[in-house]
Amino acid sequence: MTILSGKRILLVISGGIAAYKSLELIRLLRKAQCEVRCILTKGGAQFITPLSVSALSEHPVYSDLFSLKDESEMGHIRLSREADLIVVAPASANLLARLANGIADDLASTTLLASNKEIMIAPAMNPEMWAKPATQRNVETLRQDGVMFICPATGEMACGETGLGRMVEADDILTSIKHYFLASAPLSGKSVLVTSGPTYEPIDPVRFIGNRSSGKQGHAIAEALAHAGAKVTLVTGPVALPDPLGVTTIHVETASEMLAACQSALPADIAVCAAAVADWRITAPAEHKMKKRADAEPPALSFTENPDILAEICRSGKRPPLVIGFAAETDDAVKSAQEKLVRKGCDWILANQVGKTENPVFGTDYNQVTLVSRSNCDEWPPLSKKEVAARLVEAMISHFNDTGLDQDDQPSRRPSTASR
Ligand SMILES: Cc1cc2nc3c(=O)[nH]c(=O)nc-3n(C[C@H](O)[C@H](O)[C@H](O)COP(=O)(O)O)c2cc1C
Repeated sequence: MTILSGKRILLVISGGIAAYKSLELIRLLRKAQCEVRCILTKGGAQFITPLSVSALSEHPVYSDLFSLKDESEMGHIRLSREADLIVVAPASANLLARLANGIADDLASTTLLASNKEIMIAPAMNPEMWAKPATQRNVETLRQDGVMFICPATGEMACGETGLGRMVEADDILTSIKHYFLASAPLSGKSVLVTSGPTYEPIDPVRFIGNRSSGKQGHAIAEALAHAGAKVTLVTGPVALPDPLGVTTIHVETASEMLAACQSALPADIAVCAAAVADWRITAPAEHKMKKRADAEPPALSFTENPDILAEICRSGKRPPLVIGFAAETDDAVKSAQEKLVRKGCDWILANQVGKTENPVFGTDYNQVTLVSRSNCDEWPPLSKKEVAARLVEAMISHFNDTGLDQDDQPSRRPSTASR
């Protein structure tokens, strides 16, 4: 999941050579898990086909204002109501002029005039057309109306002339869209360290001591944080899960490796220690595979205590302002969590009872947790691990809003490639 996952983009494609770049933009938006609906103007359809737009966006293309089918549901109103952001790319000089003057004479211009959403425009035209006072007046009017612009680039045009006017590349538009959503994301500007999965402590080169953690809860938390705009570093033990999109993932095996990776990811604003870290490691793992001999006794293993990653993070000179641990216990999870919170010096513990057959946690998609803080115990109902992650992220957002810890990091201070 990334900041763009599930975002609904209404893309308006008007009549210019750069319309071919909008096909790549649709592909990139789909790859970033956006929902894309497209309006293709009559001019736009001279440059790219509705079939290509429809195939790439995986939805019908809208072109006709007086469509009996679409307008039976007031298509020109619905399209903007169902979008999170409207992007016009490429925007022709003609469409800019109509928008600036409130003209609504086709589906694109009528939808834009009737919209209640923010509009981001990527103009594309010949340098003379762009430089004309009429076009510049229209751009200024639209800026004053609150429309965001992704300024055209300088370069050689399809007509052979060189100058300012060509539409920026599709990935630049994608970046502007990302910045737009990041700027309004609740954890924008926050960096978060998340640990997930088990650790494996080697006995010999082929055997290890591990545990039943699947990493599903930690990975879901990393994803939910990225979706809320945070910059997430996930340090994970061996799991059978894909790396979450939009998250920097570091793979480790042992507790010592996990500690080193965590230390390199600090400072951070939040640490969430969801990994099930082995308490002990084999003092001297065998260099070669241990052989089974019929006449020999089973090997005696000697253990050494592993570093306590949660406690180390809390003790660190770079302690994040909010440190969250997990306590998976087979007995009296909440009481153990309260003791653990004080002993380790963290701020919150998510306590869950594991090992009971009627409440399996390891490896499943469900979890039942109690959020324990120094002053409170909040028992959550049984939820999917993704829902636990979403609820935990909501709690973090409230915490930062209540404590005012994010005063230096207001989203509006983030640089954006689209400007008003
Ligand atoms: C080959 C060709 C290329 C064109 N390229 C552009 C362009 O890049 N930018 C632009 O504003 N208009 C361009 N035009 C003119 C527009 O297509 C024309 O103004 C049209 O009415 C725009 O319609 P629309 O705004 O409804 O899409 C071009 C026209 C032709 C024939």
